[in-house]
Amino acid sequence: TQPLRVALLGCGVVGSEVARQLLGRPEEFAARTGASLELSGIAVRSLDRERPGIPAGLLTTDARALVADADIVVEVMGGIEPARSLILSALESGASVVTANKALLAQHGTELIKAAHDAGVRLEYEAAVAGAIPIVRPLDDSLAGDRVTRILGIVNGTTNFILDKMDAEGSAFDEVLAEAQELGYAEADPTADVDGHDAAAKAAILSSLAFHTPVQLDDVHVEGIRDVSPQSVELAREQGYVIKLLAICERVAADDAAGMEPGVSARVYPALIPRGHALAAVRGAYNAVFVQAEQAGSLMFYGQGAGGAPTSSAILGDIVSVARRRVLGGRGKYSPATGRLRIVPLDEIPTQYH
Ligand code: HSE
Repeated sequence: TQPLRVALLGCGVVGSEVARQLLGRPEEFAARTGASLELSGIAVRSLDRERPGIPAGLLTTDARALVADADIVVEVMGGIEPARSLILSALESGASVVTANKALLAQHGTELIKAAHDAGVRLEYEAAVAGAIPIVRPLDDSLAGDRVTRILGIVNGTTNFILDKMDAEGSAFDEVLAEAQELGYAEADPTADVDGHDAAAKAAILSSLAFHTPVQLDDVHVEGIRDVSPQSVELAREQGYVIKLLAICERVAADDAAGMEPGVSARVYPALIPRGHALAAVRGAYNAVFVQAEQAGSLMFYGQGAGGAPTSSAILGDIVSVARRRVLGGRGKYSPATGRLRIVPLDEIPTQYH
Protein backbone atom coordinates (compact mmCIF):
# COMPACT_ATOMS: atom_id res chain seq x y z
CA THR A 1 0.00 0.00 0.00
CA GLN A 2 1.16 3.54 -0.79
CA PRO A 3 2.00 5.69 2.26
CA LEU A 4 -0.67 8.24 3.15
CA ARG A 5 0.68 11.77 3.26
CA VAL A 6 -0.53 13.65 6.33
CA ALA A 7 -0.30 17.46 6.33
CA LEU A 8 -0.57 19.16 9.71
CA LEU A 9 -1.80 22.75 9.80
CA GLY A 10 -0.74 24.33 13.09
CA CYS A 11 1.87 23.41 15.68
CA GLY A 12 0.60 24.74 18.99
CA VAL A 13 -0.09 22.75 22.14
CA VAL A 14 -2.28 20.24 20.29
CA GLY A 15 -0.56 20.19 16.88
CA SER A 16 2.90 19.56 18.31
CA GLU A 17 1.55 16.63 20.36
CA VAL A 18 -0.13 15.13 17.27
CA ALA A 19 3.17 15.47 15.37
CA ARG A 20 5.20 13.85 18.16
CA GLN A 21 2.79 10.90 18.33
CA LEU A 22 2.74 10.37 14.54
CA LEU A 23 6.54 10.53 14.40
CA GLY A 24 7.04 8.43 17.54
CA ARG A 25 4.70 5.47 16.86
CA PRO A 26 4.82 4.86 13.09
CA GLU A 27 4.53 1.05 13.33
CA GLU A 28 1.41 1.24 15.47
CA PHE A 29 -0.32 3.61 13.07
CA ALA A 30 0.68 1.46 10.10
CA ALA A 31 -0.64 -1.68 11.81
CA ARG A 32 -3.93 -0.03 12.73
CA THR A 33 -4.62 1.53 9.34
CA GLY A 34 -2.90 -0.76 6.84
CA ALA A 35 -0.76 2.07 5.44
CA SER A 36 2.25 4.10 6.54
CA LEU A 37 1.21 7.53 7.73
CA GLU A 38 3.86 9.91 6.51
CA LEU A 39 3.88 13.34 8.15
CA SER A 40 4.63 15.36 5.02
CA GLY A 41 4.92 18.74 6.71
CA ILE A 42 3.66 21.11 9.37
CA ALA A 43 2.37 24.54 8.41
CA VAL A 44 3.26 27.28 10.90
CA ARG A 45 2.99 31.05 10.89
CA SER A 46 6.64 31.63 11.72
CA LEU A 47 9.76 29.46 11.56
CA ASP A 48 11.46 31.37 14.37
CA ARG A 49 10.21 29.43 17.38
CA GLU A 50 11.88 26.34 18.89
CA ARG A 51 9.56 23.32 18.90
CA PRO A 52 10.88 20.47 21.07
CA GLY A 53 10.70 17.06 19.39
CA ILE A 54 9.67 18.49 16.00
CA PRO A 55 12.27 18.21 13.17
CA ALA A 56 12.77 21.73 11.78
CA GLY A 57 12.82 20.28 8.25
CA LEU A 58 9.09 19.48 8.49
CA LEU A 59 8.08 23.07 9.17
CA THR A 60 6.86 25.31 6.40
CA THR A 61 5.00 28.60 6.12
CA ASP A 62 3.44 27.50 2.81
CA ALA A 63 0.23 25.84 4.00
CA ARG A 64 -1.33 25.86 0.50
CA ALA A 65 1.49 23.83 -1.06
CA LEU A 66 1.33 21.36 1.83
CA VAL A 67 -2.44 20.90 1.43
CA ALA A 68 -2.16 20.43 -2.34
CA ASP A 69 0.07 17.41 -1.84
CA ALA A 70 -1.74 15.60 1.02
CA ASP A 71 -4.06 12.60 1.41
CA ILE A 72 -5.09 13.65 4.92
CA VAL A 73 -5.15 17.24 6.15
CA VAL A 74 -5.21 17.82 9.92
CA GLU A 75 -6.26 21.35 10.83
CA VAL A 76 -5.32 22.48 14.34
CA MET A 77 -4.48 26.09 13.61
CA GLY A 78 -7.81 27.47 14.86
CA GLY A 79 -9.59 30.63 13.74
CA ILE A 80 -11.82 31.09 10.70
CA GLU A 81 -9.39 32.12 7.98
CA PRO A 82 -7.19 30.78 6.53
CA ALA A 83 -8.44 27.52 8.14
CA ARG A 84 -11.73 27.56 6.22
CA SER A 85 -10.16 28.11 2.79
CA LEU A 86 -7.45 25.53 3.41
CA ILE A 87 -10.00 22.90 4.49
CA LEU A 88 -12.21 23.65 1.48
CA SER A 89 -9.31 23.32 -0.93
CA ALA A 90 -8.20 20.08 0.78
CA LEU A 91 -11.69 18.61 0.42
CA GLU A 92 -12.00 19.76 -3.20
CA SER A 93 -8.70 18.08 -4.03
CA GLY A 94 -9.98 14.80 -2.54
CA ALA A 95 -8.09 14.81 0.75
CA SER A 96 -9.77 13.63 3.94
CA VAL A 97 -9.87 16.29 6.65
CA VAL A 98 -9.58 16.10 10.43
CA THR A 99 -10.20 19.30 12.36
CA ALA A 100 -10.46 20.38 15.99
CA ASN A 101 -11.78 23.81 15.01
CA LYS A 102 -15.06 24.27 16.88
CA ALA A 103 -15.40 27.97 16.07
CA LEU A 104 -15.10 27.21 12.35
CA LEU A 105 -17.53 24.28 12.50
CA ALA A 106 -20.05 26.30 14.49
CA GLN A 107 -20.02 29.07 11.87
CA HIS A 108 -19.32 27.24 8.61
CA GLY A 109 -20.09 23.61 9.42
CA THR A 110 -22.85 23.29 6.83
CA GLU A 111 -20.56 24.55 4.07
CA LEU A 112 -17.70 22.25 5.09
CA ILE A 113 -19.93 19.20 5.46
CA LYS A 114 -21.45 19.86 2.03
CA ALA A 115 -17.98 20.24 0.50
CA ALA A 116 -16.94 16.89 2.02
CA HIS A 117 -20.15 15.30 0.77
CA ASP A 118 -19.70 16.69 -2.75
CA ALA A 119 -16.09 15.49 -2.88
CA GLY A 120 -16.99 12.08 -1.43
CA VAL A 121 -14.40 12.36 1.32
CA ARG A 122 -14.56 12.32 5.07
CA LEU A 123 -14.48 15.29 7.40
CA GLU A 124 -13.99 14.26 11.04
CA TYR A 125 -14.05 16.52 14.11
CA GLU A 126 -14.16 14.42 17.26
CA ALA A 127 -11.60 16.74 18.91
CA ALA A 128 -13.76 19.83 18.39
CA VAL A 129 -16.00 19.03 21.36
CA ALA A 130 -14.86 18.05 24.86
CA GLY A 131 -11.23 17.11 24.09
CA ALA A 132 -10.59 13.41 24.67
CA ILE A 133 -14.23 12.47 25.26
CA PRO A 134 -15.79 10.50 22.40
CA ILE A 135 -19.04 12.42 21.91
CA VAL A 136 -19.21 13.49 18.24
CA ARG A 137 -19.17 9.96 16.83
CA PRO A 138 -21.56 8.54 19.45
CA LEU A 139 -24.09 11.26 18.59
CA ASP A 140 -23.52 11.00 14.85
CA ASP A 141 -23.40 7.19 14.62
CA SER A 142 -24.28 5.18 17.71
CA LEU A 143 -27.34 7.23 18.64
CA ALA A 144 -28.41 7.99 15.06
CA GLY A 145 -31.41 5.68 15.36
CA ASP A 146 -32.65 7.14 18.62
CA ARG A 147 -34.26 10.51 19.37
CA VAL A 148 -32.04 12.65 21.56
CA THR A 149 -34.15 14.97 23.71
CA ARG A 150 -31.59 16.83 25.80
CA ILE A 151 -27.87 17.39 26.26
CA LEU A 152 -26.42 18.95 29.38
CA GLY A 153 -22.70 19.56 29.37
CA ILE A 154 -19.66 21.11 30.91
CA VAL A 155 -17.76 21.53 27.66
CA ASN A 156 -15.11 24.16 28.38
CA GLY A 157 -12.10 23.01 30.39
CA THR A 158 -10.68 26.49 31.00
CA THR A 159 -13.79 27.90 32.66
CA ASN A 160 -14.36 24.73 34.65
CA PHE A 161 -10.75 24.92 35.83
CA ILE A 162 -11.22 28.59 36.81
CA LEU A 163 -14.57 28.08 38.57
CA ASP A 164 -13.24 25.00 40.36
CA LYS A 165 -10.22 26.92 41.69
CA MET A 166 -12.42 29.84 42.72
CA ASP A 167 -14.64 27.40 44.60
CA ALA A 168 -11.92 25.24 46.17
CA GLU A 169 -9.31 27.90 46.94
CA GLY A 170 -11.21 31.17 46.88
CA SER A 171 -8.85 32.33 44.12
CA ALA A 172 -9.44 35.45 42.05
CA PHE A 173 -10.47 35.04 38.44
CA ASP A 174 -7.39 36.66 36.83
CA GLU A 175 -4.71 34.59 38.55
CA VAL A 176 -6.52 31.34 37.74
CA LEU A 177 -6.94 32.30 34.08
CA ALA A 178 -3.16 32.77 33.78
CA GLU A 179 -2.68 29.29 35.24
CA ALA A 180 -5.15 27.76 32.77
CA GLN A 181 -3.26 29.44 29.94
CA GLU A 182 0.08 28.07 31.17
CA LEU A 183 -1.37 24.55 31.34
CA GLY A 184 -2.43 24.81 27.68
CA TYR A 185 -6.19 24.67 28.29
CA ALA A 186 -7.17 28.14 27.11
CA GLU A 187 -7.72 29.22 23.52
CA ALA A 188 -5.11 31.48 21.87
CA ASP A 189 -7.53 34.28 22.71
CA PRO A 190 -8.87 33.24 26.14
CA THR A 191 -11.87 35.58 25.86
CA ALA A 192 -13.43 32.81 23.74
CA ASP A 193 -13.33 30.61 26.85
CA VAL A 194 -14.19 33.20 29.47
CA ASP A 195 -17.09 34.77 27.59
CA GLY A 196 -18.63 31.40 26.76
CA HIS A 197 -18.14 31.49 22.98
CA ASP A 198 -16.03 28.33 22.94
CA ALA A 199 -18.72 26.46 24.89
CA ALA A 200 -21.40 27.98 22.62
CA ALA A 201 -19.59 26.72 19.52
CA LYS A 202 -19.52 23.25 21.05
CA ALA A 203 -23.21 23.53 21.96
CA ALA A 204 -23.97 24.39 18.32
CA ILE A 205 -22.02 21.35 17.10
CA LEU A 206 -23.65 19.02 19.64
CA SER A 207 -27.12 20.36 18.81
CA SER A 208 -26.59 19.94 15.05
CA LEU A 209 -25.53 16.33 15.55
CA ALA A 210 -28.10 15.41 18.16
CA PHE A 211 -31.11 17.03 16.55
CA HIS A 212 -30.19 16.54 12.87
CA THR A 213 -30.59 20.20 12.08
CA PRO A 214 -28.01 22.90 11.42
CA VAL A 215 -27.48 24.99 14.56
CA GLN A 216 -24.94 27.80 14.35
CA LEU A 217 -23.01 29.83 16.88
CA ASP A 218 -25.36 32.81 16.48
CA ASP A 219 -28.31 30.58 17.38
CA VAL A 220 -26.89 29.85 20.83
CA HIS A 221 -27.71 32.12 23.74
CA VAL A 222 -24.44 32.73 25.57
CA GLU A 223 -23.29 34.19 28.87
CA GLY A 224 -19.73 33.76 30.13
CA ILE A 225 -18.19 33.66 33.58
CA ARG A 226 -16.63 37.14 33.64
CA ASP A 227 -19.21 38.39 36.14
CA VAL A 228 -18.86 35.44 38.50
CA SER A 229 -17.22 37.01 41.53
CA PRO A 230 -15.60 35.27 44.52
CA GLN A 231 -18.63 36.54 46.47
CA SER A 232 -21.13 34.78 44.18
CA VAL A 233 -19.08 31.58 44.40
CA GLU A 234 -19.12 31.86 48.19
CA LEU A 235 -22.84 32.64 48.29
CA ALA A 236 -23.55 29.62 46.09
CA ARG A 237 -21.45 27.44 48.38
CA GLU A 238 -23.33 28.59 51.49
CA GLN A 239 -26.57 27.55 49.83
CA GLY A 240 -25.28 24.12 48.81
CA TYR A 241 -24.49 24.89 45.18
CA VAL A 242 -21.47 25.10 42.92
CA ILE A 243 -21.35 27.39 39.87
CA LYS A 244 -20.55 25.66 36.55
CA LEU A 245 -20.65 26.96 32.99
CA LEU A 246 -23.32 24.74 31.44
CA ALA A 247 -24.33 24.10 27.86
CA ILE A 248 -27.98 23.07 27.59
CA CYS A 249 -29.28 21.78 24.27
CA GLU A 250 -32.88 20.62 24.03
CA ARG A 251 -35.43 19.45 21.57
CA VAL A 252 -38.47 21.68 22.03
CA ALA A 253 -41.99 20.47 21.34
CA ALA A 254 -44.43 22.38 19.16
CA ASP A 255 -46.75 24.76 20.95
CA ASP A 256 -49.84 25.00 18.75
CA ALA A 257 -51.50 27.58 20.99
CA ALA A 258 -48.51 29.91 20.63
CA GLY A 259 -48.12 29.03 16.94
CA MET A 260 -44.59 27.70 17.55
CA GLU A 261 -43.09 24.86 15.52
CA PRO A 262 -40.94 22.15 17.10
CA GLY A 263 -37.32 23.15 17.29
CA VAL A 264 -34.10 23.29 19.25
CA SER A 265 -32.96 25.42 22.15
CA ALA A 266 -29.23 25.85 22.82
CA ARG A 267 -27.91 27.96 25.69
CA VAL A 268 -24.68 28.47 27.62
CA TYR A 269 -24.58 30.21 31.00
CA PRO A 270 -23.16 29.91 34.52
CA ALA A 271 -25.64 27.77 36.44
CA LEU A 272 -26.09 26.71 40.03
CA ILE A 273 -25.55 22.98 40.41
CA PRO A 274 -26.54 21.26 43.66
CA ARG A 275 -23.36 19.95 45.31
CA GLY A 276 -24.66 16.39 45.33
CA HIS A 277 -25.24 16.36 41.55
CA ALA A 278 -22.85 14.38 39.34
CA LEU A 279 -21.97 17.56 37.38
CA ALA A 280 -20.75 19.20 40.60
CA ALA A 281 -18.07 16.49 40.79
CA VAL A 282 -16.50 17.55 37.47
CA ARG A 283 -13.26 19.16 38.63
CA GLY A 284 -10.34 20.96 36.99
CA ALA A 285 -10.27 20.96 33.18
CA TYR A 286 -12.46 17.87 32.99
CA ASN A 287 -15.66 17.94 30.91
CA ALA A 288 -18.88 15.96 31.16
CA VAL A 289 -21.71 15.55 28.70
CA PHE A 290 -25.06 14.05 29.71
CA VAL A 291 -27.25 12.87 26.89
CA GLN A 292 -30.89 11.91 27.25
CA ALA A 293 -32.51 9.95 24.45
CA GLU A 294 -35.95 8.39 24.12
CA GLN A 295 -34.77 4.80 23.71
CA ALA A 296 -31.33 4.85 25.32
CA GLY A 297 -32.36 6.83 28.41
CA SER A 298 -29.57 8.74 30.13
CA LEU A 299 -25.93 8.47 29.08
CA MET A 300 -22.92 10.16 30.63
CA PHE A 301 -19.64 10.94 28.87
CA TYR A 302 -16.80 12.13 31.08
CA GLY A 303 -13.11 12.88 30.66
CA GLN A 304 -10.41 15.44 29.98
CA GLY A 305 -11.82 18.28 27.92
CA ALA A 306 -8.72 20.33 27.12
CA GLY A 307 -4.95 20.12 26.85
CA GLY A 308 -2.45 18.79 24.32
CA ALA A 309 -2.45 15.06 25.07
CA PRO A 310 -6.23 14.57 25.59
CA THR A 311 -7.14 16.59 22.51
CA SER A 312 -4.50 14.85 20.41
CA SER A 313 -6.01 11.48 21.40
CA ALA A 314 -9.26 12.44 19.64
CA ILE A 315 -7.40 13.81 16.60
CA LEU A 316 -5.24 10.70 16.26
CA GLY A 317 -8.40 8.57 16.45
CA ASP A 318 -9.88 10.59 13.59
CA ILE A 319 -6.67 10.24 11.58
CA VAL A 320 -6.73 6.46 12.02
CA SER A 321 -10.41 6.39 11.06
CA VAL A 322 -10.00 8.38 7.82
CA ALA A 323 -6.80 6.49 6.95
CA ARG A 324 -8.62 3.16 7.30
CA ARG A 325 -11.36 4.38 4.95
CA ARG A 326 -8.81 5.41 2.37
CA VAL A 327 -7.00 2.08 2.62
CA LEU A 328 -10.29 0.24 2.17
CA GLY A 329 -10.88 2.24 -1.01
CA GLY A 330 -14.08 4.01 -0.01
CA ARG A 331 -13.24 7.54 1.00
CA GLY A 332 -16.56 7.68 2.84
CA LYS A 333 -19.45 10.06 2.62
CA TYR A 334 -20.79 12.52 5.10
CA SER A 335 -24.49 13.34 5.19
CA PRO A 336 -25.35 16.97 5.61
CA ALA A 337 -27.67 17.83 8.48
CA THR A 338 -31.11 18.90 7.32
CA GLY A 339 -34.24 20.13 9.01
CA ARG A 340 -35.71 23.14 10.66
CA LEU A 341 -34.50 25.18 13.54
CA ARG A 342 -36.34 27.30 16.01
CA ILE A 343 -34.61 29.00 18.90
CA VAL A 344 -36.55 29.34 22.11
CA PRO A 345 -37.05 32.93 23.30
CA LEU A 346 -34.67 33.96 26.05
CA ASP A 347 -37.37 34.30 28.71
CA GLU A 348 -37.72 30.52 28.64
CA ILE A 349 -34.22 30.12 30.11
CA PRO A 350 -34.45 28.47 33.52
CA THR A 351 -33.13 29.97 36.73
CA GLN A 352 -29.62 31.31 36.59
CA TYR A 353 -27.14 31.98 39.34
CA HIS A 354 -27.53 35.77 39.27
N1 HSE B 1 -10.08 26.09 25.32
C1 HSE B 1 -10.81 24.89 25.25
C2 HSE B 1 -11.30 24.52 26.64
C3 HSE B 1 -9.95 23.80 24.67
O1 HSE B 1 -10.81 25.13 27.60
O2 HSE B 1 -12.13 23.65 26.79
C4 HSE B 1 -10.70 22.55 24.29
O3 HSE B 1 -11.60 22.78 23.26
